[in-house]
Amino acid sequence: MANVNFDQLEREVCAAIQGASTEAELEEIRVRYLGKKGNITGLLKQIGSVALDERRVFGEKVNQLKNTVETFLAEKKSQVSPSTLKDFHFDPTLPGIAPNVGSLHPITQTIREISNIFVGLGFEVVDGREIETEFYNFTALNIPKEHPSRDAFDTFYTAKGALLRSQTSTVQVREMEKRKPPLRIIAPGRVYRPDAVDASHSFMFHQIEGLMVDGHTTFSDLKGVLHIFLRKLFGKDLQMRFRPHFFPFTEPSVEIDIRWGNRWLEVLGAGQVNPSVFKQAGYNPKNVQGFAFGVGVERIAMLRHGINDIRLFFENHVKFLEQFQ
Ligand code: DAH
Repeated sequence: MANVNFDQLEREVCAAIQGASTEAELEEIRVRYLGKKGNITGLLKQIGSVALDERRVFGEKVNQLKNTVETFLAEKKSQVSPSTLKDFHFDPTLPGIAPNVGSLHPITQTIREISNIFVGLGFEVVDGREIETEFYNFTALNIPKEHPSRDAFDTFYTAKGALLRSQTSTVQVREMEKRKPPLRIIAPGRVYRPDAVDASHSFMFHQIEGLMVDGHTTFSDLKGVLHIFLRKLFGKDLQMRFRPHFFPFTEPSVEIDIRWGNRWLEVLGAGQVNPSVFKQAGYNPKNVQGFAFGVGVERIAMLRHGINDIRLFFENHVKFLEQFQ
C-alpha cells in the first residue's frame, strides 16, 4: 500500500489552517492540498493504482481526509478577516464609476426658470386643471358657442361634456372666482390641441398663463413686466415688439415678437383683460383692470437651447435629455 501517514498529514493541514489569519492564506492552503496539483488531490488520483485488497481502506481514508480539510477550511474562513483590497489587486487610485444621476426634464427646467422670474416680480404660482369644462375653456373667456374663434382653440372632447383644456387661460376665471383682487398669478401646465405632430407641433404642449388684476394696472405695466421678463430670459440687449392681434379674452390684444438673428419671432400673446371676462368671474369691470398673457414653454426652451424639433422633448431619449443635467 502506498505508504501514507494519514494522521500526520491531517495534523499538518489542520495546523496550517489553524495558523492562517486571512482569506488569502486559507486560499493558499486550499490550493496546496486540494488544488489541481495538491497533495490530497494527488492521493485521490492514486486510489485506482493501489493494490485491490487495500484499495477500499485507502480510498475511504483519502476521502475522509479531504472532507475533514474542506470542513475545517470553511469553518476557519468564516472566522478570519475578509480579504483586504490588496488581495484583489485593486487599485484604489483609479477614478470611481459615477452612478447615473437623473435630472429635471428641460421643459420642467424652463418652467421653473420662467416662474422664478415672475415670482421675483411678486407673482404667485398656481395650478390649474387639465380636464376642463366648456365654460372655462371657452365661454368664460368670451368665446361663445358657434363663434369662429373657437376653432383656434379647438381641443379633445370626452363623452361627458368635459374637454382637455386647449389653453392655460382657463385658470384666469377659476382663480378670479376664488379670490378678490388684487391678484398676480402665473399658472404653468399642459394644454392639448388636435394638431398633427411635426417638428413644431404637438397635440400636447406647455404654456404659462399670467394674470395681474387690481384697480389700476395699465397696458404700460404689461409692457414693463414683459420687457423685464424677456430680458431676464434672453439677455439685456433683447429687442421686442408689440404687434396688434386679436384674442377674445383681451382688449386690446397683442402678440409679442422678439428679435432673433435677422427675424422677428412670436413668443407671447397678451392684452388688457376683456371686461366680459371680469363679468364671468363675478368682478365688476368698473372697479378692476389688468393684463393677461400666455407663453409657450416649448418655444422658449427651443430658442434658448437651439433645439429644432419639438418632438425631442417627448420622445424621452436619454442622449437628448442628459444634455440638460
Ligand atoms: N391662450 C392664448 C393661446 O393659447 C395665449 C394668450 C393670449 C393668453 C393672450 C392670454 C392672453 O392670457 O391675454 O394662444
